[in-house]
Amino acid sequence: MENLKYLLKRNRAWAARTSANDPNFFSALSRQQTPKYLWIGCSDSRVPATQIVDLLPGEIFVHRNVANIIVHTDLNCLSVIQYAIEVLKVKYVIVCGHYGCGGVQAALQNQRHGLIDNWLRHIQDVHEKYRKQLQAITNETDRIKRLCELNVIEQVIHVCQTTIVQDAWSRGLPLSIHGWIYSIFDGLLRDLNMHVSGNEELESCYGKAIAGILTV
Ligand code: CO
Repeated sequence: MENLKYLLKRNRAWAARTSANDPNFFSALSRQQTPKYLWIGCSDSRVPATQIVDLLPGEIFVHRNVANIIVHTDLNCLSVIQYAIEVLKVKYVIVCGHYGCGGVQAALQNQRHGLIDNWLRHIQDVHEKYRKQLQAITNETDRIKRLCELNVIEQVIHVCQTTIVQDAWSRGLPLSIHGWIYSIFDGLLRDLNMHVSGNEELESCYGKAIAGILTV
């Protein structure tokens, strides 16, 4: 309970500081949110979306789950994507993975962690799909990093394949999906060169991103 009181105290100090910097901040934000970006990232506490790109509350619409996975039947994630694109009218969707992802590492171990193993099965599928490319990387750390990258690339494709993105593109809306990876080791984001703004770009973007060298 003491720990929670500490959080509430910090919240009051933060709200006071924010209001002092900009007296209209909360009243303006309470009227509407107009984020330009949808961020789909990992739940990892070290990868807080708004903070690592140095933006303010109200600027990024966020969905996070373990290992930033987009599953075609995940109503939670699909609802976020639909609301972001159709109601908030965001023009950029960023799928952001990170090196040192516990979810990716766990997927490679033959250890049981419970229910989550079923979720991590999606990462194992990515691992199997790229087994040949991954096996060619002899250093284990680099191999895991590459799997983190490949997972982002795969999940970008999944976002593109959703009915929501397909419908938006068929209506001619300007909407692009991007793949980034964050390093918890230096605090920097790296662009995986996966930028897709229409079905016609999907194949060439994917080919280039997959062929890309380890961006470490
Ligand atoms: Co993670």
